[in-house]
Amino acid sequence: MRYDILTIFPQFFESPFSFGILKKAKEKGLIEINAHDIRTFAKDRHKTVDDKPYGGGSGMIMKPEPLGNAIEAIKLEGAKSLVVLTTPQGERLSDGLAREFSEYEQLVVICGRYEGIDERIREIYVDKEISIGDYVLSGGEYAASVIIDAVSRFIPGVLGNAVSSFDDSFGKGILEHPQYTRPEEYKGKGIPQILLSGNHKEIETWKRRESLKRTFIRRPDLLDKTDLTTQDLEFLGQFKKQDSPSGRAYVALVHYPVYNKRREIVTTAFVNLDVHDIARAARTYGIKGFFLVQPVREQQKLIEQVLWHWMEGPGASFNPTRVEALKLVTIKNSIDETMKEIEEREGLRAKVVVTDARPREKMIGYFELKEKILSGKEPYLMLFGTGWGIAGEVMDTADYMLKPIGGVTDFNHLSVRGAAAIILDRLFSGIT
Ligand code: ADE
Repeated sequence: MRYDILTIFPQFFESPFSFGILKKAKEKGLIEINAHDIRTFAKDRHKTVDDKPYGGGSGMIMKPEPLGNAIEAIKLEGAKSLVVLTTPQGERLSDGLAREFSEYEQLVVICGRYEGIDERIREIYVDKEISIGDYVLSGGEYAASVIIDAVSRFIPGVLGNAVSSFDDSFGKGILEHPQYTRPEEYKGKGIPQILLSGNHKEIETWKRRESLKRTFIRRPDLLDKTDLTTQDLEFLGQFKKQDSPSGRAYVALVHYPVYNKRREIVTTAFVNLDVHDIARAARTYGIKGFFLVQPVREQQKLIEQVLWHWMEGPGASFNPTRVEALKLVTIKNSIDETMKEIEEREGLRAKVVVTDARPREKMIGYFELKEKILSGKEPYLMLFGTGWGIAGEVMDTADYMLKPIGGVTDFNHLSVRGAAAIILDRLFSGIT
């Protein structure tokens, strides 16, 4: 593989490839890396490579002629070559793309700088635009180094041990299992005993399961794109039941303090269907408890009657699965009492998430909240409001406000049980 990097800072590349695996690959002649100074392809006296944008705006744009000249001079005739532009607007670099790129004979990598490059260069010469992540770097040189490193690992002979690029995280489409080396005990922490057993079959099973668990917790999106065996799916099914992160999540249906139609703070009456349907959704998605926040004693008595009917009375034998869902329900006088109970159960104060149909500033997205829940240790309490929504005082003190759910029309009048089911699915959806 021959890499030709187009940059205004060729000196940048003096060091990144002078160590370890890439240095050896160069020495063995498996890869060749050339960094070309774009300035040398500028034809004017001052060797100008950038200019002001047409139409105004801040920053400078890389001029088309030096870049075009450079690409034409460098691209190998008759070789299988690919022109890559590094840009935060590009497709995210992945293991799959790196593997694809490794099959070319030449990669020409353009290091974007300033505010970007003239659009016509993209249109005429660029085959792929690549980003290495959702952040802006001061120049494409960092991204080019990352691309070259990731691609080279797939070139036969670059890694001493041919299996290791496959064994690495992503090689199998999922994250790698935890790794340990000597000493057997470090700062009071041992290692999983199975690794000392000498039973290779069991060790392999352990590694696969740890990889699946880690991927489920940290990058569940990868599981969606990977071929899983029936054993994998069975194991994940078990794992979700016992250790699922949604096991630290609670929901509450708030009847007070909520707004009525005139934006007065009121207590609403409970709706039988809401209790049933949210309990069923909560049970399906592995939620640990469903609180009904209802301070009115008469209302509490009514709810108790309904619960009694389905859990102990005639309903229990008519529909036994309903018992399982309604077992999650606890009646509480207030949100504060609910928080106290969760703290007693979990030993930690819950983070409070509120939901509302109206968009506001500083709302958290589903993916971001999911990541927080999956990576943290704290319990989470999601509050669903009845009536015309949860009172502002509760909204203001919540830890997170979740973005409203929206369809593709301007009609947005979901029932609270409908919204709760959609939100639970977005946050805790299984992978199968
Ligand atoms: N140039 C600036 N930011 C970048 C990014 N995130 N990926 C690739 N090239 C870039």
